[in-house]
Amino acid sequence: MSHAIPVLDFGSQTAQLIVRRVRELGVYSELLPHDVSEEQVRALNPLGVILSGGPASVYEPGAPQMPAWLPTSGLPVLGICYGMQLISYALGGVVLSPEDREFGPADVALTGEHPLFANTPLNQMVWMSHGDRIDALPPGFRTLASNPSTPFAAMGDDERHWYGVQFHPEVVHTVHGKHILANFLHTICGADSSWQPANFVADAVERVREKVGAEGRVICALSGGVDSAVAALIIHRAIGERLTCVFVDNGLLRLAEAEQVIATFREHFHIPLIAVDAREEFLSALENVADPEQKRKIIGEKFIRIFEREARALDDAQFLAQGTLYPDVIESSAPDRKKGVTIKTHHNVGGLPADMQMQLVEPLRYMFKDEVRAAGLELGLPEEWVWRHPFPGPGLAVRIIGPVSWPRLETLRRADAIFLEELRTAGFYRATQQAFAVLLPVQSVGVMGDGRTYADTIAIRAITTEDYMTADWARLPYDLLARVSSRIVNEISGVNRVVYDISSKPPATIEWE
Ligand code: XMP
Repeated sequence: MSHAIPVLDFGSQTAQLIVRRVRELGVYSELLPHDVSEEQVRALNPLGVILSGGPASVYEPGAPQMPAWLPTSGLPVLGICYGMQLISYALGGVVLSPEDREFGPADVALTGEHPLFANTPLNQMVWMSHGDRIDALPPGFRTLASNPSTPFAAMGDDERHWYGVQFHPEVVHTVHGKHILANFLHTICGADSSWQPANFVADAVERVREKVGAEGRVICALSGGVDSAVAALIIHRAIGERLTCVFVDNGLLRLAEAEQVIATFREHFHIPLIAVDAREEFLSALENVADPEQKRKIIGEKFIRIFEREARALDDAQFLAQGTLYPDVIESSAPDRKKGVTIKTHHNVGGLPADMQMQLVEPLRYMFKDEVRAAGLELGLPEEWVWRHPFPGPGLAVRIIGPVSWPRLETLRRADAIFLEELRTAGFYRATQQAFAVLLPVQSVGVMGDGRTYADTIAIRAITTEDYMTADWARLPYDLLARVSSRIVNEISGVNRVVYDISSKPPATIEWE
């Protein structure tokens, strides 16, 4: 790794987003705790540091402070929101706590041309979200942007190369935010844009080699999703045949998915793969089970038991691969961040036995989801796989409302395949973040030819979302919905009705169970 611009985390909801933006601009970044040591930061070969926003007020007892080593480090600094207030407070300015918060879009005017704002207009729209604001600049700083309610919307000290912005350049609502960040990275810190997919694959491969050593063997569970596939490809590049993949066909996958996983990994990539046909085992465990949480529990436990059995047969493997992504690492390393309430328990393929005596290898530990996809393309994973929507661990079992049976699974698989095929053909697959069919426990009356039918109902759902925490139903064209509906009722016997789910999340969830 050549160089980095780390972000110090003062607790803002958008701290992660700053790291993503920096990486999108081709500069490596990590989110580090605000009290990180200088040594840890130096280990990344930093060309500058960004201080994130945060919910605290600088005068509050216990408020997180700027690391004492930073002012004498010689590194350029950009403080965002709370980060700017910290700079001001630490270097002798005055911070004010007004009664009301400023939240939302605001216009600011630049005081003149400045490298931090190069290629952006003199008047521009930014996104504010702050309680405190600056009342007097620290010595050496001057105002770079202002408006009537925020006289010091941006400040800078060109001697030290320290800057502060009261608004959030990392959010899209700050129209020129990406430019401002790019100016800080490239012009002020002198970073080039060399952080590209090929580099981060090489970097991940190197970390795996270091961890596993010259002899170590690794087991990796494949789910059919993009994360486990990319994790396996990285490990394979690092240690070759010392990787064994395990794929469990639980019978709850989409049409032709199991065959595709086996063909791609075994025949295309030549990666040793143990494929376990556990369809009957799962189906019999799920017999007559209607409660969704019960289904999840059974499927999660069964998976662990089968995986353990297979892993035991490979008793010389000391390492277990896990597809942990960077956002999970960030969340779990910051215990003071509020965790959401669990609405559904999620069993991922990653949720492997806690008592397994194996060390973890986490090749995706420093990657965001979009970087995992870019790495997948770089490693030759088929494009269709790279862009695959997320698929829940319990699979189609939570898309058949009520008890699961093989005939019902086959009906749902075919309906789902028709929907996805039409969605792809119409060019809407990439425009939606998740799309699938659900088989309802409802029969209704229909007419086919001269006869009366009493048959099943398929619900189709397509959503758009940024983070899967909230979602909206996709406004698919009527003629696409019409084609899907007509193909499903014509091609699948036992289905006579198709409905489109127009619920947003909240109050609905994405899945039906
Ligand atoms: P909900 O339905 O909670 O879904 O709005 C949010 C996201 O999580 C996925 N999901 C699951 N993923 N195991 C998983 O691995 C599960 O049990 C599970 N339940 C929901 C869902 O598909 C969506 O992407």
